[in-house]
Amino acid sequence: MVFKPAHWPRKLRSAEWFGGTSRDHIYHRSWMKNQGLPDDMFDGRPVIGICNTWSQLTPCNGHLRDLAERVRHGIYEAGGFPVEFPVFSTGESTLRPTAMMFRNLASMDVEEAIRGTPLDGVVLLVGCDKTTPSLLMGAASVDLPAIVVTGGPMLNGWFQGERVGSGTHLWKFSEAVKAGEMTQEEFLEAEAAMSRSPGSCNTMGTASTMASMAEALGMALSGNAAIPAVDSRRRVMAHLSGRRIVQMVKDDLKPSDILTRQAFENAVRTNGAIGGSTNAVIHLLAIAGRVGVDLSLED
Ligand code: FES
Repeated sequence: MVFKPAHWPRKLRSAEWFGGTSRDHIYHRSWMKNQGLPDDMFDGRPVIGICNTWSQLTPCNGHLRDLAERVRHGIYEAGGFPVEFPVFSTGESTLRPTAMMFRNLASMDVEEAIRGTPLDGVVLLVGCDKTTPSLLMGAASVDLPAIVVTGGPMLNGWFQGERVGSGTHLWKFSEAVKAGEMTQEEFLEAEAAMSRSPGSCNTMGTASTMASMAEALGMALSGNAAIPAVDSRRRVMAHLSGRRIVQMVKDDLKPSDILTRQAFENAVRTNGAIGGSTNAVIHLLAIAGRVGVDLSLED
């Protein structure tokens, strides 16, 4: 099916909150204005949510406030009205008993945060493993235009001339200490060297996999998954995504237009090609369920 962009200009969803003279309209606009917003921000332009999983307790997403500013620049540039808001952030390395237990809860938070507020479109700022599927699930359920910006992987670690990855070295170093092959001082030095920059795990674990899946599904700009967190091109990607979401709202290009069965097949193939995490299976199935796509095998 060929996508046909909607007519523009037209009245957007946000006009239900901001576009009138009733008591409710004044209530919605006036309170927003306490943040220093000029009148013309409420003139019917696309209101774009920047849905942020920044949290110091999700260290992989600890740099997302900087990226949110880049997204904001792009939204303003394209004539949109950016509004940033926080959602439940499921940090893989800190949240007990397991971040997976809270993926669906986080997706409900995202869904209701988008549905209940005057948004016309949303930018999903994600990174750590479960943050990407939970925001995709929530946004897909609401089905307003949405685009993913991931935080990108951290730089490779190096310790004593050896490349140190975010995964296997956890086990390797702790076992080495137990075996008396590594001192406490070396251990602390190694753990600092392992995670030496902002970003998500630098291996093809769930975070990098789901960033690739977002891209393969068509929910992120091309090239989004590969750029390291600290690379200036990631800021450019965030900026361009801000511009892009405004056009998506004007076109009324929604997740249900993008997340077709063919898009999921493309993601499955991509996961095979990159050697991605098997966790992609459970996350892709969950996202597909939100847009009513049946991924069962064809006869
Ligand atoms: Fe966050 Fe690995 S712990 S991506």
